[in-house]
Amino acid sequence: MSSVFDALASGYDLGLWPLEVAVLRRMRRRAFPKVEGQVLEVGVGTGVNLPLYPPTATVVALDASAPMLRRALRRPARARVRAVQADLHRLPFRDGAFDAVTGSLVFCSVADPQRGLGEVFRVLRPGGRLVLLEHTRGRGLGAWLTDRLHPLWLAWNGVCHLNRETNRTVREVGFRLQREESHILGIFRLLEGVR
Ligand SMILES: C[S@@+](CC[C@H](N)C(=O)[O-])C[C@H]1O[C@@H](n2cnc3c(N)ncnc32)[C@H](O)[C@@H]1O
Repeated sequence: MSSVFDALASGYDLGLWPLEVAVLRRMRRRAFPKVEGQVLEVGVGTGVNLPLYPPTATVVALDASAPMLRRALRRPARARVRAVQADLHRLPFRDGAFDAVTGSLVFCSVADPQRGLGEVFRVLRPGGRLVLLEHTRGRGLGAWLTDRLHPLWLAWNGVCHLNRETNRTVREVGFRLQREESHILGIFRLLEGVR
């Protein structure tokens, strides 16, 4: 299995660094340290979140890209981490297998977010937690900006959608959204839901 992210893996952390400093690092530190139990992180990429999980978590780090996963496995972590290379549209896990599913900056670039989030819903146990940090269509001026920039951005990189309403899709597949935190005109959102 290969993906456009295979080619991006070596420069990914450096490319994201300005955004990490501006907004992502703070959001990640608020989101991931409180996730416990059997955890599935989808689209783990180079594993930026892995050092943040507590020792009480056991994390399955899933990604379609082998080069991304190799980098993820080099991260220090307090939680036990196991890597799985798979497509999140067809998660290789039984129904209700996880206490929590997490992800960051993933559903902007999956081919079918509705189906992917449907799979996430399926593998979470009833009452299990969803924690997502996503960039989405903004609010107000943010909506105008993300709508205008989206075609150019997608034409340039081929995978990432700037104006997806992942916050809405999460509800549509059946999650109860309990908390939504938004930053920079609603373009970055921390979404916490329950199955
Ligand atoms: C923009 S990167 C985000 C990486 C990391 N989560 C972060 O916050 O920096 C998106 C990741 O999702 C993975 N991905 C995209 N579509 C996927 C799919 N259908 N199944 C599994 N992983 C996928 C890519 O390979 C990539 O590593």
